[in-house]
Amino acid sequence: MVLDKRGRPLRDLRVSLTDRCNMRCTYCMPKEHYNNEHVFLPKSEVLSYEEFSLIIDSLVPLGLEKVRITGGEPLMRRDLPNFIAMLPKNLDIAMTTNGIMLAKHAKQLKEAGLDRVTVSLDAIDTDTFQKMSDSNYQPEMVLAGIKAALQSGLGVKVNCVVRAGINEHAVSEITNYFNGSDVVVRFIEFMDVGETNSWNLDEVVSGDEIRSRFEGLEPLKPTHKGEVANRYNWNGQELGFIESVSKPFCGDCSRARISANGSLYTCLFASKGYDLKGIIRMGATESDIAKAVRSIWTDRDDAYSELRGIVKQEKIEMSYIGG
Ligand code: GTP
Ligand code: 5AD
Ligand code: SF4
Ligand code: SF4
Repeated sequence: MVLDKRGRPLRDLRVSLTDRCNMRCTYCMPKEHYNNEHVFLPKSEVLSYEEFSLIIDSLVPLGLEKVRITGGEPLMRRDLPNFIAMLPKNLDIAMTTNGIMLAKHAKQLKEAGLDRVTVSLDAIDTDTFQKMSDSNYQPEMVLAGIKAALQSGLGVKVNCVVRAGINEHAVSEITNYFNGSDVVVRFIEFMDVGETNSWNLDEVVSGDEIRSRFEGLEPLKPTHKGEVANRYNWNGQELGFIESVSKPFCGDCSRARISANGSLYTCLFASKGYDLKGIIRMGATESDIAKAVRSIWTDRDDAYSELRGIVKQEKIEMSYIGG
């Protein structure tokens, strides 16, 4: 096991398979920045499945327990089940997706070894869904993806980013829609991640504020140390609140991130990554990679959300580094 300067282990790796996405959520990939002129990573720089899998295998001896496959939109990569099948079976394997292509792939993903999906869904009504995702997709496509995931035996969580005055009504609509199902619903405070989403504190709806709209919430204990959501039971429905703006959770943060081009980031708000692609393409072995990551992690002192407003630094975009 490896500990950082604040005594936090490296338990959770988030792997961004691609910086591309078929949506343009205003809080993540606003169209003003992600348009025809935006230069996405060239194919040659994006790691292959073999390269990602080598990194994951290397981190198991350091204490890795969980891998989250993310993007951009990970289902934009071809043959994703082939990648899942390459991963160690004893890890918890989850995927974050916008759900548009999930109905088609859920069964194969489960068969390949995927345990869980987290599906982004910011509204159920078409107008608000299209406004939040700045796309012409229909929310029914995502709902069909969720249904297929449940039928395939995947665990399902729904993540809803709440923006003041835009999709606040979705809080009760989404909760009611999933009440009585096995889907865990989580509301996320709009974060100041990246430099392009014109973040503004006035647009954040705090977890406290959202909770005040529910009667009879009963707090639940965290399922594990470092869990990002504060969990509640509401009429048999699990609701989670991810309050990184109003209640930062850096204290137990055991998350590392790998960008699609193979850089390791020790914080979601980091301004610089550590290039692993270079050493991998020069023939690094598992133990070389483990040694490099051990030394990076030992030096880690990140706690951006706790220091927000005190530390000013240029931040990396979430679509590049992975949610
Ligand atoms: P499980 O508990 O394994 O289901 O996953 P998770 O809740 O850690 O993962 P998920 O990707 O669903 O995280 C939900 C959201 O929380 C992300 O999309 C981010 O908005 C936010 N988040 C996740 N990790 C971090 C983090 O390390 N720092 C901050 N500030 N926000 C995070
Ligand atoms: N604030 C909060 N969450 C965000 N995500 C992306 N950008 C932001 C942001 N600015 C998260 C959402 C989405 C996932 C892919 O990334 O949870 O569902
Ligand atoms: Fe794509 Fe997810 Fe970002 Fe929306 S939040 S633009 S679906 S990566
Ligand atoms: Fe971890 Fe950085 Fe998020 Fe804090 S801000 S929880 S250190 S990723």
